Amino acid sequence: MAEPLLEARGVVKRFGHVHALQGADFTAFAGEVVALIGDNGAGKSTLVGVLSGVLAPDGGEIRIDGAPVRFGGPQDARRHGLETVYQDLSLAQDLDAPANLYLGRELVRGGLLGRIGVLDRPAMRREAVRAFAELGVTLKDPSAPVAALSGGQRQSVAVARAVAFANRVIFLDEPTAALGVVQRARVLETVRRVADRGICVVLISHNMPEVLSVADRVEVLRLGRRVASLRGAETTIEELVGAMTGSLDRAADPAPSAQVASAPASPATDSAPGPGRPDAEPRTVGAAGTTWAEAAEATEAATPARPATPQQPEHQRAEDEEAR
Ligand SMILES: Nc1ncnc2c1ncn2[C@@H]1O[C@H](COP(=O)(O)OP(=O)(O)OP(=O)(O)O)[C@@H](O)[C@H]1O
Ligand SMILES: [Mg+2]
Repeated sequence: MAEPLLEARGVVKRFGHVHALQGADFTAFAGEVVALIGDNGAGKSTLVGVLSGVLAPDGGEIRIDGAPVRFGGPQDARRHGLETVYQDLSLAQDLDAPANLYLGRELVRGGLLGRIGVLDRPAMRREAVRAFAELGVTLKDPSAPVAALSGGQRQSVAVARAVAFANRVIFLDEPTAALGVVQRARVLETVRRVADRGICVVLISHNMPEVLSVADRVEVLRLGRRVASLRGAETTIEELVGAMTGSLDRAADPAPSAQVASAPASPATDSAPGPGRPDAEPRTVGAAGTTWAEAAEATEAATPARPATPQQPEHQRAEDEEAR
């Protein structure tokens, strides 16, 4: 198999007594959309923080193209071609959308004899309007500060910025949570297009139909560890939910007492979904059918045909209900 573009091995991250990541692994290949899913508090944003240089890990290793790297900060990760849309967006609220798009990477026109550069505001504005239009967003006033935009428009600004500058990996931490139907579809189209350029898109989402519609692969985090790596085309919502909550583990393993015994000594988070066994190695669904398929069958009776994903924000769940 090809060398992973980006890999996390055994990453540990603690916040005081909270063990957010307890030896988390993650793998991203060029040209794929990989969804990173897990319950609230599973460690997704923390993992993205570590992989994008914002958080210093307490242990483990990050590799790019097979070579170990250490990020001194987010700029370091950007220099490696890694761009991130953070869950809190991290935009400069007082600046307008074009300025946010180019923050820290402003376009400069050669000034007098090319010696004094000046900001090329018209070019930045043109490019920004084009980038937003691609995402289905029309900004009535491109010079309005970002603070004056709607939540969805702000989200599009953050996505446009990442798409414009990434050349290896883009992390999108819930990029569609605040978007309308049209904008959400455009972001997902953009995700696909960017991946087709050979970039890896890491999509964090609680919207399982969205995940299955766009992801080539799905990595599942539970209690700060990767517990599954599944192929999107061969996976069902039931399997995803089962992997996130650990119900598939229980169905697949005939000795539940052993699972409890091997559960982490200290629960990772206060929102831990209950006793389960975060495996050291992810299980992969193969074409030949594996424990996952068997386990899914075993749990089918106990699982609603199309469960509402419990970790989905309330408003989004309502929206999905409506779409049905
Ligand atoms: N800055 C922080 N200080 C203290 N604890 C933190 C901090 N950031 C995250 N945590 C804790 O680490 C755990 C993992 O949080 P994280 O934000 O990575 O989860 P997540 O999978 O992104 O969840 P969500 O789906 O709700 O966004 C949680 O228990 C959280 O409370
Ligand atoms: Mg998060």
